[in-house]
Amino acid sequence: MFATFAEDGPSLDAWLGDFRWYLDMLLDNEDGGTELIGGCIKSVMNANWKFGVENFIGDAYHAGWTHDSGCRSMNNGEPFPPIDMENSYHASVNGHGWEFGTEGVGDLFLLGRPKVLEYYERIRPKMAQRLGEMRSKIFGSVASASIFPNVSFLPGISTFRQWQPKGPMEFELKTWVIVNKTMPDDIKDEITKGVMQTFGPGGTFEMDDGENWSNCTTVNRGVITRHERLHYRCGISRQIDHDTLPGIVYRGQYNDANQRGFYQRWLDMMEADKLDTMPQRPEPRLSGVGETRNLPGLFAL
Ligand SMILES: [Fe+2]
Repeated sequence: MFATFAEDGPSLDAWLGDFRWYLDMLLDNEDGGTELIGGCIKSVMNANWKFGVENFIGDAYHAGWTHDSGCRSMNNGEPFPPIDMENSYHASVNGHGWEFGTEGVGDLFLLGRPKVLEYYERIRPKMAQRLGEMRSKIFGSVASASIFPNVSFLPGISTFRQWQPKGPMEFELKTWVIVNKTMPDDIKDEITKGVMQTFGPGGTFEMDDGENWSNCTTVNRGVITRHERLHYRCGISRQIDHDTLPGIVYRGQYNDANQRGFYQRWLDMMEADKLDTMPQRPEPRLSGVGETRNLPGLFAL
C-alpha cells in the first residue's frame, strides 16, 4: 500500500515515526492484523484534497452540527455524542495526526451497528493487555486520523481512504472497509453495511462532509477570501506534555492543532531541498523499527 519513488526516500518506519504508536490501535488491536474487504469504491469530488485530509486529521468541531440530522436518523433520534474537553486530545507527528477522545465508544456508536459495539466491548480487555489501558480506551472513541499526506481513516467506524488529487479543484476519493482478519464473518458484514450507510459515497455522513469539502473549496476561490487569512488558532494555548501520548499533544478535541501540524509539514516539504533535512516535529520518542507494543513508559493512563 505504501511506496516511494525517491531512491533516497525514508523507510516507512522512519516516515511514520512515533505515529506508529497510534496506528497500532487500528492495525494491531487483535491477533492476526487487518484486511481491506469489499473492494475499493471510487468517487470524484469537486474539492481540493487538502480539505478532506484537514477534515479527518483534526476537525472534531464540525461534527455536532454538520452531522446532527444524520446522527439522529441513524441512532433513534440520539444527538451526536458529547465531547469531553478535559479527556480528549490532538496528537500530531510530522504532519500525521489523530484527534480522539478516551471514552471508547463514540465512533462505534456512530457506526449505528450495536453488534459491532458489543464485539469491541468483548475484546477490549484483551486489547488493553495488548496495547495498554490508554490505547484500549482511545480506540472506538469519537476520533479521526490521517497519515501525511493523503491517507485517512476513522478508527471504530472502519472507513479507510486515500484522497487522490486531480488538480486544485478536484480529487478522487478511494475508500475501503478495514476490519480485523480474525473477526467473525457476521461482524465483518455488520461493519461493511455500517460503513456504507455512514461513509460510503451515498452514506449519511459522507454526503454531509462532501458539501463542506466542495463548498470550502468554492468559497476560498473568492477574490475577497483570497486576500484574507483563515483562522487556525483554535486551542493554540492548550499544548501539554503527556507521559503516555507521543507527538505534539494538545488537550481538547475542539482544536486546530493537528491542522496546523499538517500545514506546517506541507510548508516544510515545499521549502526542503531534501527529505532527510526536514525538521522533526517533534523529536521522536520511539526509536528503531517494528515493535511498538511493549515500550516501557508508554502504558500508564
Ligand atoms: Fe464529518
